[in-house]
Amino acid sequence: MQTTSDHSHYLRISEHSATLLVNQLSLARAENNQAIFKFGFGQSPFPVPEKICQALAESVHHKEYMSVQGHLPLREAITSFHYEREGKNWHSDDIIIGAGSKILLFCVMAAFESAEILLPAPSWVSYEPQAKLAGHKTHWLTTSFAEKWKINAQQLEQFCKDRENPDIPLLLILNYPSNPSGQTYDKSELLALAEVMRKYNIIVIADEIYSLLNFQQDQASIADYYPEGCIVSSGLSKWCGAGGWRLGFMHIPPQLTHLLATVIGVASETYSCAPSPIQIAATHAYQEKDLADQFIALQTKVFAQISHYCVTELQAVGVKVHDAQGGFYLFPDFSNFQHQLSSKGIHTSEQLTNAIIAETGVALLAGSAFGMDQFSLTARLAFVDFEGKQISNNDHTELNYDRVKTGIKELCQWLSDL
Ligand SMILES: Cc1ncc(COP(=O)(O)O)c(C=O)c1O
Repeated sequence: MQTTSDHSHYLRISEHSATLLVNQLSLARAENNQAIFKFGFGQSPFPVPEKICQALAESVHHKEYMSVQGHLPLREAITSFHYEREGKNWHSDDIIIGAGSKILLFCVMAAFESAEILLPAPSWVSYEPQAKLAGHKTHWLTTSFAEKWKINAQQLEQFCKDRENPDIPLLLILNYPSNPSGQTYDKSELLALAEVMRKYNIIVIADEIYSLLNFQQDQASIADYYPEGCIVSSGLSKWCGAGGWRLGFMHIPPQLTHLLATVIGVASETYSCAPSPIQIAATHAYQEKDLADQFIALQTKVFAQISHYCVTELQAVGVKVHDAQGGFYLFPDFSNFQHQLSSKGIHTSEQLTNAIIAETGVALLAGSAFGMDQFSLTARLAFVDFEGKQISNNDHTELNYDRVKTGIKELCQWLSDL
């Protein structure tokens, strides 16, 4: 006779997101009054601007379902916002709103019966698990510290030439500025990649969730060079500090109109619509352009300063790390310490991050969580362990990020003592 536990053989193997595990470990240490520097979990430390919170409070009575594709005024506000800031020439008919961009990424993958997902290593932790859940095969393109963790046109072309079955749709996810590396692509790099994409009919998902947090505010987009095959994904989570509000969107170009229709179909059978009050508050967030300008200017200034501090300190003790160009992550490479680490029995990125949190309280996320080889001795460092609220209120005259400074000092000391 079958018992309920027998069902477990039929479950998918879906591991907990590595990011959430580090967060739990950090919380457990904090509960035991042990020092903890929360560089593992990346979320914006800045509060959502008060005026936008007020808009949410006032829209709370909107209990009706909205259209699956999303509230039209919001889609229009998004097109106008991204036109003015980034010159994106979008039409609101080609935008879909989701409860976060993450579910939309999954909906695109789920829209395909069969597809192959191509990811640079390192890439954000959730792309590969999503590809697996959608039943697609994942391929990785390797990168290196010297190449600033970016893929190039030659390797993309080589991959396309070597594909066993080139008829299966190929979806490349390109995220810039990148979580985890903090690096972004410049115009010439994107132009060269676009040529290959066009030649091989690749669908690229440009995950531009951090594009408004580019420190120079000069973010180029693959959509400028390959509009017909480029889906752009973004939302409120990063630039507006509103990750928990769960509001994201995608622009799917008119050339991929069948795909948009299928994605709307998947959305209608899963999340139905993003929460109505959030969509109304988000409309205000995208309409209040001066507020957005000020908020983005404040954040990029603060993030650039903290990134620079961390990089200077880490480089001084011999860590290979590039200054971030946007967002709030660094991707240090500890390979210069390989000998000392291996004599401590540390050979993999996970062993490295486990030892660092155990011996210093600094929480990092192992490079292997991002698709790096397990022996790569890399990790992601999210430099967001500070009070964004205080900085917002103080007009950042007294920028205090002492916890980040102390954590970096602890890490540097640990490395120097190896
Ligand atoms: C690279 C990247 N893409 C997508 C997301 C998902 O964002 P959202 O909150 O819109 O679902 C995140 C969030 O951490 C991210 O870092």
